[in-house]
Amino acid sequence: MELLLRSPLDMHLHLREGALLSLVAPFSARAFAGAVVMPNLVPPVDNLARLRAYRAAIADAVAPYAFTPYMTLFFRPYDEATLAAARAAIIGVKLYPEGVTTNSAEGVRDLEAVEATLTLLERLGIPLLVHGESHGFVLDREAEFLPVYARWAERFPRLTIVMEHITTAAALEVLDAYPNLAATVTLHHLLITLDDVAGGLLNPHLFCKPIAKRPADRDALRAAALRAHPRLMFGSDSAPHPVERKEAAGCAAGVFSAPVLLPLLAGLFASHGALANLQAFVSDNARRIYGITPPDRTITLIHKPWTVPERCGDVVPFYAGQRLEWQVVDPLASAAIAGPGAAIQRGSAPHNPDAQP
Ligand code: DOR
Ligand code: ZN
Repeated sequence: MELLLRSPLDMHLHLREGALLSLVAPFSARAFAGAVVMPNLVPPVDNLARLRAYRAAIADAVAPYAFTPYMTLFFRPYDEATLAAARAAIIGVKLYPEGVTTNSAEGVRDLEAVEATLTLLERLGIPLLVHGESHGFVLDREAEFLPVYARWAERFPRLTIVMEHITTAAALEVLDAYPNLAATVTLHHLLITLDDVAGGLLNPHLFCKPIAKRPADRDALRAAALRAHPRLMFGSDSAPHPVERKEAAGCAAGVFSAPVLLPLLAGLFASHGALANLQAFVSDNARRIYGITPPDRTITLIHKPWTVPERCGDVVPFYAGQRLEWQVVDPLASAAIAGPGAAIQRGSAPHNPDAQP
């Protein structure tokens, strides 16, 4: 059995820099025609020169796949000239409240003070992407931020505001209340709850921000994704950290899901009889919401079991060691792949491992 997807898009992705970028980027480029790339590097991607250099490094890391990195600038109180100059090079500006997640120390402290910049974004037609969490009790952080989304959606009705990686049923209600809001949802928040993270033995590889929530929240997100809610986009938030940063006291937040995204999505949608809606969820909604035209690629998945490698380099992937039913056919290889991590463990180069002889 075969499943064809036209130009799948990952609308929220952490690609990192340096060796980690080289390691992880091919997993995304193999299966997706493009991705929205997060700017939370150290230092953040907050100027055009840095953004262009980062984009070039990504282009190098994803070659020769046809893959568009849709770049974002880290939110600052930019002036109009700066934003106007950046507009053609970015898909949006990403706002992090100060300190809410990995590499957000330079995020926004005063959420009231950003509105002058939001006025500019609205005027210039630049979307605002938001990590919407407060500094409150961990399970309530997203809910506590929802009034901020509502306020901005009302005050800036022509600004497209993307609620990144929503994790609650309440967030879906806010999404439905304002036509200028859109949202992304991750694969892991469609599959796991807090019980998977901390209900039994602690699983650091499932620890992320926002934390996975209750079964009722997961089920509401799942229902919205499975029906391809028109303002909900797939965004993996795949966020690799080396194993020593995960299997540690002070575990870093992030789930490295890039190697398994489409296989697990296909399995989820197939098991609910919703495969017909997968195309909209992983591509068409995002194209419409952002008005983008990604490279025209057809990604083929075949129904053929494989086992997710325990490691991809020094990063542990989501579902490590588990058997999945679907796999992506690598357009650069003659046969379907059993996961690029396996190739890396055999010692081939991290770039485009399956094209090695
Ligand atoms: O779990 C997360 N990891 N959430 C984020 O918001 C950032 C990300 C990262 O960069 O590691
Ligand atoms: Zn993220």
